Amino acid sequence: MYTEKMFTEKELAHIREQFYYTDKDYYGRDRLFFDNAGGSLRLKKAEEEFRRIDSIPDASEHSNVLALELAALEDRGRGWIREVVFNAESGVIYPAYTASQIAMEMIQIILENASGNNVVITRLEHPSVYDAAVMYSRKHGMELRVADVNKETGGVDTETILSLVDKDTALLCCMAASNISGYIFETERICREARKINPDIYIYVDAVQHAAHGLLDPEKWGADVTSFAPYKFFGIRGFGLAWLSDRVNRFEHHRLLGKELDDWEIGSPAPAQFASFSEVIRYVISLGQKKEPEEKDRRRLFEAGMHRIADHERGLLKMMLEGVDGMPGLRYMPGVTVRMDGRDLTRRDLILGIEFDGLSCEKAVKEYEKRGIITFERALSSLYSRRMVEAFDSKGMVRLSPLHVNSPMDIWRFLVATQEIAGLQ
Ligand SMILES: Cc1ncc(COP(=O)(O)O)c(C=O)c1O
Repeated sequence: MYTEKMFTEKELAHIREQFYYTDKDYYGRDRLFFDNAGGSLRLKKAEEEFRRIDSIPDASEHSNVLALELAALEDRGRGWIREVVFNAESGVIYPAYTASQIAMEMIQIILENASGNNVVITRLEHPSVYDAAVMYSRKHGMELRVADVNKETGGVDTETILSLVDKDTALLCCMAASNISGYIFETERICREARKINPDIYIYVDAVQHAAHGLLDPEKWGADVTSFAPYKFFGIRGFGLAWLSDRVNRFEHHRLLGKELDDWEIGSPAPAQFASFSEVIRYVISLGQKKEPEEKDRRRLFEAGMHRIADHERGLLKMMLEGVDGMPGLRYMPGVTVRMDGRDLTRRDLILGIEFDGLSCEKAVKEYEKRGIITFERALSSLYSRRMVEAFDSKGMVRLSPLHVNSPMDIWRFLVATQEIAGLQ
């Protein structure tokens, strides 16, 4: 069942031991968790390190010995986030409570400072990005231009986005991957071509969906802001992280006036959050080390680790679509339709949306749960989903988002349950 590029069965068993609740829920009941796009399975080390560091009361801004140790831990975390996760030499890391907060605040700040008369955005953006773009383009009297979807690929074509950009575009918001279809945008090409049209454009890349599945490279892309949230990347809730380019870094923002302009952290820092996410980085590096035992550079090892995650996940995605061990895949199951089913799997994160012919997405999600599988409904009634669901002419979809910790056997179990649910219609 395991194809060449996937983790071996033995290695996967070791990976699964490092996460909580891979096959049982909190109460010990058998369960498959296919809602990682809503908050991913958590790395045990990330949780343990959070608890260990958070139990220490010392203030990392003070000067006693333990306080200084906490400050050093934070600094190491900031450094790794910038150099290893974002691969950036310039710019600054901006931590916040959520990625939504970052989106709202950064779009506000950019539009207060940028010149131009329009904002370009894709129809698939998360409401925190979309609504901030609506609010602040209105406030500054700018036209909002929305790039529409490609119903086949589940994405937005690069050409469609670029056709809306002109020399007066102040801001372009284009996510790294969609949290409804998994479509991976051509971020580098989009940034490069948009800058050819307007060298002064600001570009916001929301990488909250993509970060746990692929690499981020905002400096190379030519983005100005790139954000993600550790809770969707094997880590802890209550933390959002962004990389800001040097030009955005210089914008006036909320800060104590005695602090430097490039200090974006407001209030007491949280050493436990930095320590916890450092464990996620170490984990990805450890996957890379298996493949590249001679390599010493942390970013190169992180890249190797993320490639392995993506390869395993692509193997699982293919099994979900095409079938595994005698079970037909979703593409061939009567009563089931795969939506946004782009054929090029290298352009898709492990996330997909399906519809049942005679069952609403809300009911289907309940049926999955009865069978010990957690999925999520992308319903028309939800303010998080409506715009995207309507874009694909759907009445609502079941969103499936497994993770690299899942096995071919998990996919087989999921397909058996899906066939059973399809039979209820
Ligand atoms: C693509 C995308 N962007 C932004 C967000 C918002 O992240 P947060 O929950 O940290 O505010 C989400 C959360 O679901 C998301 O999926």
